[in-house]
Order: sequence, then structure tokens, then C-alpha cells
Amino acid sequence: MCGIFAYLNYCVPRTRKEIFETLVKGLQRLEYRGYDSAGIAVDGPGKTTTDINGNTICLIKKKGKVKALDEELYKKDSLDLDEELGTHFGLAHTRWATHGEPSAINSHPHRSDKNNEFVVIHNGIITNYKELKEYLVIKGYEFESETDTEVIPKLVKYVYDNRENDGVGFSTLVERVIQQLEGAFALVFKSRHFPGEAVATRRGSPLLIGVRSEQELLTENIPIQYNSVQEKNSRNRSDSTNSINSVGDGSAVEYYFASDASAIIEHTKKVLYMEDDDIALVADGKLSIHRINRQAGEDPVRAIQTLQMELQQIMKGNFQSFMQKEIFEQPDSVVNTMRGRICFDSNTVVLGGLKDHLKEIKRCRRLMMIGCGTSFHAAVATRQILEELTEVPVMVELASDFLDRSTPVFRDDVCFFISQSGETADTLMALRYCKDHSALTVGITNTVGSSICRETDCGVHINAGPEIGVASTKAYTSQFVALVMFALMMSEDRLSLQTRRLEIINGLRMLSELINKVLGLDEKIKDIANEMYQNRSLLVMGRGFNYATCLEGALKIKEITYMHSEGILAGELKHGPLALIDKDMPVIMIIMRDGCYTKCQNALQQVTARSGRPIIICCQDDPEITKNAYQTIELPHIVDCLQGILSVIPLQLLSFHLAVLRGYDVDFPRNLAKSVTVE
Ligand code: M6R
Repeated sequence: MCGIFAYLNYCVPRTRKEIFETLVKGLQRLEYRGYDSAGIAVDGPGKTTTDINGNTICLIKKKGKVKALDEELYKKDSLDLDEELGTHFGLAHTRWATHGEPSAINSHPHRSDKNNEFVVIHNGIITNYKELKEYLVIKGYEFESETDTEVIPKLVKYVYDNRENDGVGFSTLVERVIQQLEGAFALVFKSRHFPGEAVATRRGSPLLIGVRSEQELLTENIPIQYNSVQEKNSRNRSDSTNSINSVGDGSAVEYYFASDASAIIEHTKKVLYMEDDDIALVADGKLSIHRINRQAGEDPVRAIQTLQMELQQIMKGNFQSFMQKEIFEQPDSVVNTMRGRICFDSNTVVLGGLKDHLKEIKRCRRLMMIGCGTSFHAAVATRQILEELTEVPVMVELASDFLDRSTPVFRDDVCFFISQSGETADTLMALRYCKDHSALTVGITNTVGSSICRETDCGVHINAGPEIGVASTKAYTSQFVALVMFALMMSEDRLSLQTRRLEIINGLRMLSELINKVLGLDEKIKDIANEMYQNRSLLVMGRGFNYATCLEGALKIKEITYMHSEGILAGELKHGPLALIDKDMPVIMIIMRDGCYTKCQNALQQVTARSGRPIIICCQDDPEITKNAYQTIELPHIVDCLQGILSVIPLQLLSFHLAVLRGYDVDFPRNLAKSVTVE
């Protein structure tokens, strides 16, 4: 939703210009999380008449993208860009508006008062902000924004002003404040009263801290694969020799706080993932972590991990946008999802993160697949093969609706939570709901260390690599592959299913090569986009294994081209959607040689009989289709249950080209953000 970045240099001299550059670069890496306004807080130009202990804090905020903020920074004549700051702490934030329109005043950092005594950046939502605001207004605090966040710095100041003795530290103030907050948050605080100190905390929203130091840290590479339950749990083990209570001995060090690793990776690979209710304090260059309401001697121990991400993975390279890059990465990303899990010699599949739970999963009453948006579509896409290979009923659920219905869940249910980011609020809430009902929970995520990954009992990392484009592409195909692999693993000992399993494993073996062939159709798809980019609407129709492709294709189109688009189950055509068909309505039909072939051809007849002129996504050299004068996109053949991986790619490419031709910013679709951390 929003992107948080903060940078503390301790005894590492940096000019103000260098600090600006670091903060802006951090925000650029996080801009996919929100991009309607941005802001920073840095130390001001030294003593002023209103200073406290000689410190001032300067806030610079701007509506629009990070670029607009960047330009604004250099207009501040009062700030000497060449001034060297040996120790300094700066905050930065890029916003996705929830409370209050995008504007400079509503953007973060928010402040306690006109003297900027306390400033904060926030990702998440404070659900009891109205009550807190009412209370603070009665106490005489003046609010300037429409946000929920503003209560936080005001509350810190209130606690500070009403403290009983002067010895209350910065982290204690924050600890007292967060006990009053309801909702979700990742927060980083800066204060004039505590120069050079940083406090960060989280509950329900992600936050990690990167550490760069000359000093030898306790930095053994903790495995961050979701490989087995033991391994997963070892990350939180309190007796781990790789774990720490504090970092730094007071010598030169730099700390980076961020909502996700992509903002940190170019500075350091050593990171620490904060847990809910952790409070991190940096003072005198030392980082320490404690938990709220801790008992004496009960400090948490967190592991410093080594990121396995490369800078190159989060750069656009020669592509016009991240989305385009990620579409073209799919031949590799699907292989990375399978790597080390499928043995093509023995035709076996082992998902390390699930193997210890396999017996329990096999005994379950039903499988529930829960997600939002594209991740939900991955569940729709694989439901049929899951039912076929597991012989267990499979329910697919949109997380928000699942919660609205208070869906009955039982202890012998196995609930899958599918999420690229691993932070989607609705999916996370559904996960907690299922845990409360004692179901076994399984995460299918692309983000190591994410909330869903940490809170599920077991899971599979899809290993698609960082996905930055707001429109999800490679995560979808990797989620698809991961779920198919799960179905294969579940059916390994079923003799009657061996032929079918082999057919699918062979399909997976060929997958990367076939995706490459589909990507080879890019120019043709661009030509099709040229013909239709001025249309207002686009229908996508299909059924069976390709129904999910229709939903996903239509989502991609509406998300980045702002055209109206609908994914229609061909079986429903005559129950309503047929009324939309005429010679002017653009329609894409998916007709592959699978169990639905004849029924899809019937739908085609019904469309053409109403003067519809569909573009058909079909199998290469399908004479039944190609003998007619239809416009076609011909795909290589693969086993039916994997066809959806190939058939979605032309629609990903089409939506990309349509968006470019319509003049839209592909990676920053209006009103959206990559990671939806609000319900
Ligand atoms: O991170 P998640 O997979 O949980 O995100 C779920 C949806 O918000 C996401 O898939 C969204 O629909 C995409 N922007 C679609 O391209």
C-alpha cells in the first residue's frame, strides 16, 4: 500500500545531498506500493529560534510521484546540500491514499505539532483513529490532515508532554503509544528530542532493517527457503546461534528501514525481519529490539539473514516497464518454481515445505484455496486438476467474501493462502480466521519473510523473483505451477493416476520452451492491440481449464488499460452475456483442443451468428478453426491442465500493448498499488 524507507548513518559522514539521494532511491524502489504523494523528514539547518537541543526537523512533501518530490528537494534554498552530517536519521514515504485525498498535507511524514517535535511514517490503517483524535482534540491538539496516521505523532507528543519523569526513552514512548493503536501498522519515528535515534515498530504490516557495517556481524546465512517446517520455524528460534538481541558496538554503521527488501538490496544484503509488536531502537549507533509488555530478561532474539535477491532482479534493464520485463521472465521464473522440486528422471515431485504435513493433508475433508485478484485466479486455474489428482473437494474463495460469509471451517480442512506479496490484508485476515478454527494453513507466496509466509503452518515459496509491476504476471504462472506440483505430489502413490501424472510432468518439462514460443507472438499481438486500442470494451470468453485465463486476462486489461473488460464463462453465454454481442463488440475466445472443445465451438457459432467477429486463441494448426477466416493467435499444444499457463501470456502481452498505445503508465495504474495491506 504505502512504502516506508528510512536511513540512519552513524559516524559515516554523508552530505545532505547524498542523504536525499539515498532516501529518494529508496522511495523509487518502493513506488509500486503507492504513488500518489511522497515526503521526507530530515534534520534541518542547525540552530533556529524554535529549536530544541539545537535540533530542527524539516519536512518536505509533495503530491504526485517520487519524481515530483525529488525535484522539490532541490528547491529548498535553506538546506545546504553540501553540509556533511556525520550522524543523521532521515525518513521517507510514498503514499497510497486511504484516508484523505492525495495532497502534500495528507502525505507522510506526519508531525506532532508545528515544531515537528515527533514525526512518523506509517504503512497500514489505524482503525480507532476517530476515538483517539476526539480525545486529542479535547486535549487541545490541532490536526491538519484528514489521515488516520496523524493521531500517532500527536499521541507520542501527548505521552511525552505528560511523562512523569525525564528519563523516559524514545522507544518507551513509542511502546506506550502503540498499545493504544488498533489496526495494522509499520511505523518509523524520528524526534527532535532524540537526535540521531530511530524507533521502528510493526503490527500486521511488513518492516525490515538492513545493516551495513565494517564490523563482523553475526551473519551466517540463515536459509530462507520455505523448505521444511523445522527450517521455517528455525528462523524464530530463540536459541539460534545466528540470532541477536542487538547489533553494533558504537562504531560506524548504517541502518536502512524499509517495507520491503527491494529498497535495501543495493546497500546491504544483511537484513533483519521485524515481527509483530517488536520495537527496534537505534541509539548511539546500536540497534536493539524488544517487545511490548516484555517480562524481565525476555528480550526477543532475531536473526540477521542474508538476502538472496540480486540488484539486477529489481532493475528494468532494457524493458520499457517492469510488467513487460516480468512477462518476458516467465520462461525462467517457471523453471525457478520447479527447481529442486521436480526430478524429471524419476518423475517425482517433492515440495520440501509440505512434506512433513503430507499425511495430514491427505486425510483432510476438503482443500480451500483462498486469495485475492490474480492469486485467486491461480486457484481457479488449478482447481480442476487439484480435484482430479487429489480426489478431495476443492473450494476456491475470494478472501474478502470468505470473511464476509464467516465461512464454516473445520479442523480437518486444509486452507491454502495464495499471495504474491504475502501481505494482502484480506488474505491475511482469512488466514487468521482459519487458524482460529484450527485448520491446517498452507502459504503459497513469493515473498520470503512476509506475514503469510510466517503465520502459516507450512508452505511453498514460488520463487518467481521480485515482482514489481502492479499487474501481476510471472507470479500467476508460478503460483499455477506450484499448485500443479502440489497436486502431483498428492497423487504420487495412486497407481490409476500414473499415466496422467506422467503426461503433466512431461508438460512441465517442456513448459519453459513453449512459453518462449508464445512470447515469440509479441509482434503479432502488438498488431492486434493496434487494431483495438480505441475500443471501450473487450470481452474474453472460454471455459474449463481456460476459464481462469478469461478472468485473469480481463483483470489485466481493466487494470492497466482502463478499458471495460469481462472474463466470461462460455457456458454462461446464453444466460445473459450474449446480449452484448454485435459486430462492434470486441471478443476474444479461447478454444483449445481439450474436453471443452466442442462446447467452445458451439459458443463460437452463437457469437458469429450474432455478427460477432471474435479473435480466437487456439491450438497451432487447428484446421477446424484456421480453415475459417477468423483472426487467430495460435499457441503450441501442451497437456490440457497446463494450457492456461500458455493461454494467459497473449492476454498479458495484449494488455501491456493496449496500455502503451492508450498512453498509460503500465507500472503505475491509477488508483492501485502492488500490495494491498488494507481490508
Ligand atoms: O499479493 P497478492 O497476490 O496477495 O495480491 C492480490 C491482488 O491484490 C493482486 O493479485 C492484484 O489483483 C494484481 N494487481 C492483479 O494484477
